[in-house]
Amino acid sequence: RKRVRIHHLQEMKRNGEAWPMLTSYDMYTARIFDEAGIPVLLVGDSAANNVYGYDTSLPVTVDEMITLVRAVSGAVQTSLVVADLPFGSYQESPEQAVRTAVRMMKEGRAHAVKLEGGRRFAPHVEAITAAGIPVMGHIGFTPQSEHALGGYRVQGRGEHASAVLDDARALQDAGAFSLVLEMVAAEAAKHVTTELTIPTIGIGAGPDCDAQVLVWTDMSGMNTGRTARFVKKYADLGGILAQAATSFAEDVRGGQFPAPDHTFH
Ligand code: KIV
Ligand code: NA
Repeated sequence: RKRVRIHHLQEMKRNGEAWPMLTSYDMYTARIFDEAGIPVLLVGDSAANNVYGYDTSLPVTVDEMITLVRAVSGAVQTSLVVADLPFGSYQESPEQAVRTAVRMMKEGRAHAVKLEGGRRFAPHVEAITAAGIPVMGHIGFTPQSEHALGGYRVQGRGEHASAVLDDARALQDAGAFSLVLEMVAAEAAKHVTTELTIPTIGIGAGPDCDAQVLVWTDMSGMNTGRTARFVKKYADLGGILAQAATSFAEDVRGGQFPAPDHTFH
């Protein structure tokens, strides 16, 4: 298998082939998803919730992200690894955005970066792209702005659809190679997908995006808590792991582990 490049993602859009993206924050999931043929792995700042246990994505730092990005990029053979720029690491200026993106590439060994925001972030996307680093955009509901947006709300409904399209166009013109649409009304997401030449990646944005992304801890049931309506649960990893831990505890308490097979003399 060949390494996935950004031009392969564009080709899949042109051929009408939908493709999947998953988050990954560690070596085992990166290896498993890579071998499962997931073309793009996102080391999302959702690591804030799913690795570090913070209640929002805002507190996670660049250093906390880089450790995870390096683990994921070191484990893949073909998947394209995208590193999220966390809150506060790019908003100040295009220069700050380039500095952080360069760290993700040099220290994290990422293949691309992602940042949140619409047309106001076109200069940041342009500056990072000019440095030779592919950028994935992210619009619609952007979790780093949840306090400004007033909580988890669907974007692009009714007359707000044209604002989503304007943001999408500005990011494409700035050089973004793809665009995440999060919690965008399906009609608006479909329109954006038709209008853009770069692939759209939906999460809670309906069936007409070029690609779909889910957070791995949500889609696998590793997260046993409440999840958003747009999540489909493909397994019960949380339940399986709880059962394994319970069985191990029973074996130790009952003297069934270790058995002769696990013992040296
Ligand atoms: O951090 C993340 O997991 C994301 C995806 C939901 C797109 O940004
Ligand atoms: Na994110």
